Amino acid sequence: MALYFILMSALSLGVNSGALGRFARVVDETQLLTNGSYDFVVAGGGIAGLTVADRLSENPDVSILVIEYGPFDQHEDTVMVPGAWLPVPYLWLPLMSTPQTALGGTSYSVPCGQIVGGGSVVNAMFFHASSAWEYNAWEQMGATGWGWKSLLPYFKKSEAFNRPDPKYAIEHNITWDDSVHGFNGPVQISHAPYDYPGSANFYNAARSFGIRAPKDADAGDPAGIFRLQRAVDPKTQTRSSARINHYENVIPRPNYHILPNTAVGRVLFEAKTAIGVEYVNRTTTAKGTIKAEKEVIVAAGAVHTPQILQLSGIGPSLPLKDLGIKSIVDLPGVGQNLQDHLGLYVYYNYTNNLFPNSGSLQTNATFATEQRALYDAGRPSAFDITAATGNLFIALPLKNITSEASSIIALAKSQDPSKLLKDPDPTVLAGYKKQRNLLISSLHTSASLIGDISWSTGPATTLYMTRPLSRGSVTISSANVLADPLIDFGAATDPTDIEMLLGIYLKNRKLMAMPELAILGPIETSPAPGVADKDAIRKLLKANLQPSNAHMCCTAAMMRRADGGVVDVQNRVYGTERLSVVDNSVWPFILGSGPMASVYAGAEKAADEIKKRLGLL
Ligand SMILES: Cc1cc2nc3c(=O)[nH]c(=O)nc-3n(C[C@H](O)[C@H](O)[C@H](O)COP(=O)(O)OP(=O)(O)OC[C@H]3O[C@@H](n4cnc5c(N)ncnc54)[C@H](O)[C@@H]3O)c2cc1C
Ligand SMILES: *[C@@H]1O[C@H](CO)[C@@H](O)[C@H](O)[C@H]1NC(C)=O
Ligand SMILES: *[C@@H]1O[C@H](CO)[C@@H](O)[C@H](O)[C@H]1NC(C)=O
Ligand SMILES: *[C@@H]1O[C@H](CO)[C@@H](O)[C@H](O)[C@H]1NC(C)=O
Ligand SMILES: *[C@@H]1O[C@H](CO)[C@@H](O)[C@H](O)[C@H]1NC(C)=O
Ligand SMILES: *[C@@H]1O[C@H](CO)[C@@H](O)[C@H](O)[C@H]1NC(C)=O
Ligand SMILES: *[C@@H]1O[C@H](CO)[C@@H](O)[C@H](O)[C@H]1NC(C)=O
Repeated sequence: MALYFILMSALSLGVNSGALGRFARVVDETQLLTNGSYDFVVAGGGIAGLTVADRLSENPDVSILVIEYGPFDQHEDTVMVPGAWLPVPYLWLPLMSTPQTALGGTSYSVPCGQIVGGGSVVNAMFFHASSAWEYNAWEQMGATGWGWKSLLPYFKKSEAFNRPDPKYAIEHNITWDDSVHGFNGPVQISHAPYDYPGSANFYNAARSFGIRAPKDADAGDPAGIFRLQRAVDPKTQTRSSARINHYENVIPRPNYHILPNTAVGRVLFEAKTAIGVEYVNRTTTAKGTIKAEKEVIVAAGAVHTPQILQLSGIGPSLPLKDLGIKSIVDLPGVGQNLQDHLGLYVYYNYTNNLFPNSGSLQTNATFATEQRALYDAGRPSAFDITAATGNLFIALPLKNITSEASSIIALAKSQDPSKLLKDPDPTVLAGYKKQRNLLISSLHTSASLIGDISWSTGPATTLYMTRPLSRGSVTISSANVLADPLIDFGAATDPTDIEMLLGIYLKNRKLMAMPELAILGPIETSPAPGVADKDAIRKLLKANLQPSNAHMCCTAAMMRRADGGVVDVQNRVYGTERLSVVDNSVWPFILGSGPMASVYAGAEKAADEIKKRLGLL
């Protein structure tokens, strides 16, 4: 604690600001002083890391250092303006998966943010909660206290929901339920005040097809067609990233520091107690250490959190020993249970599409100039919508996707879980079997969302298979944090996943044939134009799908230790003291929705638990 005051004086001498202007609480190594200390050191400044750092630093007596691998963004248009998305320089590139055995040995890129704010700076901004059933099922896997009723207050705490303009809402069939929203939280949430005319065709086709429209997708039952909300501040129509809503908006707060461009290499221990971290300057690769008096909090995302844990000696002990890493706790679940949504783009030519549509910004320079001028003038504009995406989303349970649900469920049941994982540790296998039983039995119900369809109104329709039964892994192959871990999505190792994706693909074909969409003259150009034979379609789906939708999770799961779990219900790593994980690595299994809203809510809850157990409320 004393050192923190020295730090303050060092900082007040006017340090590192440069391009960051008023964000003067950015520190560099020299300001950490030799072997300095903070109350909390957070490894990874993404959504979860900055949420927890903000909440813990509300107490002025508590000092916090966030160490982030990436830099600060410069509020470029690609970051801030939805229609100018995507900020490629802030993605973790190149980051590749291992060859995917069920997909012909292809390796795929692994999408992650590498930037202060993590995924919230680079993502598509879609913000929605998932089905209550899923959170409640987490509790059945051992995450007691993480059910829908317990999490709802944290969803509310995290958001500032901005109601749409009433007239616009009526015209665009936007409905919502105030009782499930928060209005004073840090994350600005809104509906785009602009839309393409084709949205009405998509909406009406879906409704004619028997797809329901939930009143509010955030009320625990999002199945059906709904309007996307985005983490966008409606006052400026710019991105509300964690860097803005959990850092910029709370400084100056002298007890909250961020050290960018620096990798946490490992957690340091005294016996089983975490006492700090070793970090690596990414420019010089020089190492330093910093102490944490109260806790080390790991929040490096589902790919890099298990990497840091394994580098620290927390993981399956034998492979770590081979790399010369001393085992602190033998925890075979670290890095197992990797999950993501399968993504598939279906492309169409339209003989009769409406203008404008989500492709117009890219193909019509006059339109783009005109819309940019409207945006800059604060008027509704196509730039209010994330580039190349639409405003509508359909999420469905299996039985609303295909009449083949029973045979798909039978196929899932016929798999031998012990053959689907590579040399599974018995505890990891036990957890996988429990998950499969729970998830497979949910496939009959309307609460388990297995697939999404989203037409952008332009060339692309995006399909997602959101209920994977396959599992992957993250494993280090080097003791150096700057070397990427082996990332194996394990995509489609359970063939049931391809059958579910096939069901969604065929459902979308039927939807496109509804009169409201057929009138636009869609002609499929990829992946399987004119192909009717299911086997042939399966092959084309495998060749064209993406094993990741950037929704990686679950690699340090909150499950019982006997089920391959890594953290307890308060996010504490089993077998250790003063070490927690707060990002979506802790989810037992993947949600049917996009993760962002639930990552914010889960981190709010984790911060509360930390405050409670350390008496910092
Ligand atoms: C391109 C893209 C689009 C997406 N679109 C959406 C969307 O529209 N809606 C949605 O809900 N979700 C979306 N997501 C997913 C969502 O952003 C993530 O699920 C979310 O950011 C995860 O939060 P997190 O805190 O677990 O990790 P992250 O936000 O990824 O943060 C982890 C941070 O840790 C840092 N880090 C890693 N290793 C180290 C280390 N060794 N030392 C120090 N720091 C380290 C990383 O640089 C990163 O900043 C998208 C993601 C991407 C990449
Ligand atoms: C990394 O080291 C370089 C060279 O010493 C230094 O200029 C830079 O500030 C260091 N990075 C950080 C984040 O402190
Ligand atoms: C800093 O920490 C390192 C490693 O823990 C130790 O070897 C060194 O003596 C410490 N230096 C000072 C000045 O305390
Ligand atoms: C809204 O719903 C009505 C039918 O209830 C439909 O006529 C209209 O086209 C829809 N508009 C949009 C933008 O979805
Ligand atoms: C699924 O189908 C049933 C029966 O047709 C219907 O009642 C229900 O609303 C549908 N669900 C969705 C999400 O569309
Ligand atoms: C391009 O955009 C302009 C401005 O909105 C519009 O007038 C024109 O018709 C568009 N051209 C095409 C080919 O759609
Ligand atoms: C789709 O349109 C492109 C460009 O006009 C054309 O080259 C292509 O042949 C079309 N494909 C189909 C299947 O109609």
